[in-house]
Amino acid sequence: MRRVGIVGVGEYLPKKVLTNADLEKMVQTSDEWITTRTGIKQRRLAAKDEASSDLAIKAGRRALEDARLNPKDLELIIVATITPDMHFPSTACFVQANLGAKKAVCFDVSAACAGFVYALTIAQQFISRGVYKNALIIGAEVLSTITDWEDRNTCVLFGDGAGAAVVAEVKSGGGLSTYLGSDGTKADLLMIPGGGSRNPSTHETINKRLHYLKMQGNEVFKIAVKIMTEAAREALKQADLECSDVDLVIPHQANIRIIMAMAKKLDLPPERIYLNIEKYGNVSSASTAIALCEAVKTGRIKKGDIVLLDAFGSGLVWGACVIKW
Ligand code: COA
Repeated sequence: MRRVGIVGVGEYLPKKVLTNADLEKMVQTSDEWITTRTGIKQRRLAAKDEASSDLAIKAGRRALEDARLNPKDLELIIVATITPDMHFPSTACFVQANLGAKKAVCFDVSAACAGFVYALTIAQQFISRGVYKNALIIGAEVLSTITDWEDRNTCVLFGDGAGAAVVAEVKSGGGLSTYLGSDGTKADLLMIPGGGSRNPSTHETINKRLHYLKMQGNEVFKIAVKIMTEAAREALKQADLECSDVDLVIPHQANIRIIMAMAKKLDLPPERIYLNIEKYGNVSSASTAIALCEAVKTGRIKKGDIVLLDAFGSGLVWGACVIKW
């Protein structure tokens, strides 16, 4: 089996900023409520003509440049998204066409906020077995298109953006373990009920606002703390490491209180947790990808560091990866 690691990272955040003060004018909420309950101060919004693939392409190009890889040599593109450009074809195919990555095999992964961790795991499997030499994995979301801007319970939480990584064989370090899990019995906690084959789009589904994200926030909160803690423990166990060995945790950025409750259970000091939720809110599959990119670019991750990615999302699904940088 080949040793597989991340050899390039990139991100793209749309320019438009929506602050908590802006939201105060849209729904009955306050900066104080949003900040104390979630840790979010602002989020980015894609422009009207920006779809998920547009964000993905920009983040993907940056990751390829960082890895010094010509798109023509790319063998696999995986896009993790819950806001694809269209039901089909896959967003990965739009990315391929724009990049001119003619050789690449392309598909999307639907694993909500754990999508980037799932994509990384799939890419690692292909490359470690020698099926492909490299992969571009991208988490890209335009969650503003599935957000009900009249629902204060959810609209304050989400944002748009993309993060990408190039995965390839490495001589030292690389992925040490990966742990994924799913529980479909809890699907109703977080979903978009309309617009699929269960409730195809009709005037009725639109009037009932079924094409927007629905969430039982309280329930998700409790499960998220438990799941993220367990996933971290399991991935570390498989890598034969302790929590104290971890230099930096890149958690899914859903709620600062979820992240800090997990850190407390794992006995991890705050300085070893990467946070950017304040700037971007929850960007689903792109959250861990953007955070990883920022941590690398700002020197928070250095060669030899043990990095733990840890995410959960609608499904429910969850995943954690341990990487030696
Ligand atoms: N502004 C002001 N008040 C709000 C509000 C908002 N934006 N949203 C909800 N409230 C109100 C509620 O209506 C409720 O009022 P009530 O007591 O009069 O009924 C009160 O605040 C408390 O609501 P509650 O749901 O108990 O708050 P909470 O502390 O659980 O925080 C979430 C709500 C959504 C922030 C929190 O549950 C959460 O983050 N859950 C996980 C969500 C998540 O991670 N989703 C993505 C998974 S990948």
